[in-house]
Amino acid sequence: MTQEIQPVRGMNDVLPAEIGAWQHLEAVTRALLTAYGYEEIRVPLLERTELFRRAIGEHTDVVGKEMYTFTDRGGDSLTLRPEATAGIVRALISNRLLRGQRHKLWCLGPMFRHEAPQAGRYRQFWQVDVEAVGCPGPDVDAELIALSARLWQRLGLEGLTLEINSLGTAESRRAYRARLVEYFERHESSLDADSRRRLGGNPLRILDSKNPELQELIAGAPLLTEHLDPESAAHFEALRRMLDSVGVAYTINPRLVRGLDYYNRTVFEWITTASGAQNAVCSGGRYDGLIAQLGGEATPAVGFAMGVERLVALLVAAGGVPAAVPPDVYVVVSGERATAAALRIVERLRAERPHLRFELNVGGGNFKAQFRRADKSGAPLALVIGDDELARGVLGVKPLRIESGQSECPIEALAAGVDAALAGLGRD
Ligand code: HAM
Repeated sequence: MTQEIQPVRGMNDVLPAEIGAWQHLEAVTRALLTAYGYEEIRVPLLERTELFRRAIGEHTDVVGKEMYTFTDRGGDSLTLRPEATAGIVRALISNRLLRGQRHKLWCLGPMFRHEAPQAGRYRQFWQVDVEAVGCPGPDVDAELIALSARLWQRLGLEGLTLEINSLGTAESRRAYRARLVEYFERHESSLDADSRRRLGGNPLRILDSKNPELQELIAGAPLLTEHLDPESAAHFEALRRMLDSVGVAYTINPRLVRGLDYYNRTVFEWITTASGAQNAVCSGGRYDGLIAQLGGEATPAVGFAMGVERLVALLVAAGGVPAAVPPDVYVVVSGERATAAALRIVERLRAERPHLRFELNVGGGNFKAQFRRADKSGAPLALVIGDDELARGVLGVKPLRIESGQSECPIEALAAGVDAALAGLGRD
């Protein structure tokens, strides 16, 4: 037997049985983002590797070990996007859309990171990414967070908690970084290999370590929030006041540092206790320096991304997925002439009644088998196209969910006949 081709590890198929949850999430999200004034943008899956190196940072896990990077046939180093922010910023710069303009953008699509796959963590995963470009905040930071809270409410998701922190400015972070390195160097013998590696490149990430043996040491480390510059402290305080005033509850997590280098000031994460270790469903923050760092004119910006697979899992667990919509009419076909005429008749109905869903029995089958399929489809009404009926210029009309005989309807008046039959079943 020919060997089966295996799927790529960590890359999932979204099957029809699951797609209802995805589409519901997408529809609710799209409607909400539009209502808040956000516009959709679609950027390429591939970018020059240099973009992510410069935006996300050489010392991050994403750039250091997780990118899908290859040389294309023209000799350029390209990378499958591990996140969307860098590509969106690149698009704003490439298309000359900055020039003091503000942009409220969102983007949906797959991202790629070569991480160790486990429940909730994949190598291809989908994000809804939301970016507000051109405002220094904190009002826009607060509105973005309120938007995410409103989304959980619209989706019926409970039990998500918000953690916030401020990373200060690049300068205050540098000063804090020096104090942190000093602290961890004093305790270097207690660090694990991973943390020792991070000490040189990205010491703030040590605070993120999940190693239980390091927790006491981390708890004793100097706190970033205590080393904020006065403007960042005021920014953070104003953000907290705004969140209080709209009733979005949060906890301040002084250890929240995020895994990408471009952040400053506001950072936040929505956490669920439901999905074990992979508990962040939505995370983001402010990145005032990134646009200039990528060659654009200095423009403040803030944004977040949500993990679609993680949210879909929560949605399914919460029973928040609407049932699939059945067809309105199932069309049963019997006889040679009828088979030849059926498609023409149903296509005319589809043209005349674009809001209705007609499922035409294709692939044959005897009467009984077709009615079994009709029943299974969930349609309330069947149309029966048979040679005898056709010869008389009529079709059979049969309600499927109530005890009722079959009536007839002239083919010329079929659309009106379908309307009347559906109305008689309370479906108009
Ligand atoms: P991030 O924290 O790397 O941020 O990813 C955002 C979200 O994507 C996470 O909270 C998580 O829900 C989901 N996610 C990340 N990695 C995986 C994975 N391997 N499998 C499944 N889901 C995953 C960013 O990507 C930033 N670009 C967010 C942002 C936008 N900041 C400012 N603007």
